[in-house]
Amino acid sequence: MDVPGVELIAADDAGAPRRLAVSEGNQMRLLLIGAPGAGKGTQAERLAERFGITHISSGDLLRQHVKDRTSIGRMVTSYLDHGDLVPDGVVMDMLRKPVVAAAQAGGYVLDGFPRTVEQARASFPTAHALGVEVQAAVHLDVARAELKRRLLARRRGSEDTEAVIERRLQVYLDKTVPLLEYYADREWMFTVDGAQPPDAVYEDIVACLEGWWTSLRGPGQASRASGR
Ligand code: AP5
Ligand code: MG
Repeated sequence: MDVPGVELIAADDAGAPRRLAVSEGNQMRLLLIGAPGAGKGTQAERLAERFGITHISSGDLLRQHVKDRTSIGRMVTSYLDHGDLVPDGVVMDMLRKPVVAAAQAGGYVLDGFPRTVEQARASFPTAHALGVEVQAAVHLDVARAELKRRLLARRRGSEDTEAVIERRLQVYLDKTVPLLEYYADREWMFTVDGAQPPDAVYEDIVACLEGWWTSLRGPGQASRASGR
């Protein structure tokens, strides 16, 4: 069902439309962006449950490949162990099927992709052509000291040693902060204070999404965003 007045009106380049098409009445396709330890996985799980959509984490999928010793896993191990980004083509090939399947099943919350301007630019045309492009993005904003504290406390294997954490945080500054700047004035991009306790972060995200959804569809049609 098309929603009058909600359409792709100003794609200033292939990866950064200012307004997005919201033409599938029962779909929700979200992006979570944040530094290592910002709480992307924590919040994505809760959002997936609330809205009945699929949580897709690029990092979790990559770690599973490593664990299963697939060809992708063998290719990416040393990138993960050093805190570097794996090559764009590998991540995009890996995500295509799950993203399309999730969109067909009702929607997704994508955690960890895109994390560079190049990935956003490269993936948008395909996603748009398939009708599975993201509809809203949430940036979880957390100060560096708190990120480090959380990751050191968690200690998820080789990725959470002090040196690799430093590298991951630096990669975030170099590669993902430009993505936030690139998306900054988009009306579908929201920033939430991710340093709050998890429940408060979650409530803020839901409030942003509900407000946004209502502004697009009108108050009588906000049921998807309210999760009811
Ligand atoms: P990825 O798995 O995406 O790791 P990351 O971005 O480093 O983030 P984390 O998963 O460590 O943290 P998170 O934000 O999910 O926070 P979480 O909820 O776990 O990527 C791993 C690697 O894969 C990359 O380094 C790269 O090599 C590769 N990769 C992935 N995507 C890629 C891409 N697109 N392109 C190229 N390479 C890619 O929370 C962290 C901790 O904090 C937990 O202990 C949690 O309990 C706690 N916590 C969460 N929220 C709060 C809160 N509000 N208050 C207090 N504690 C909290
Ligand atoms: Mg994660």
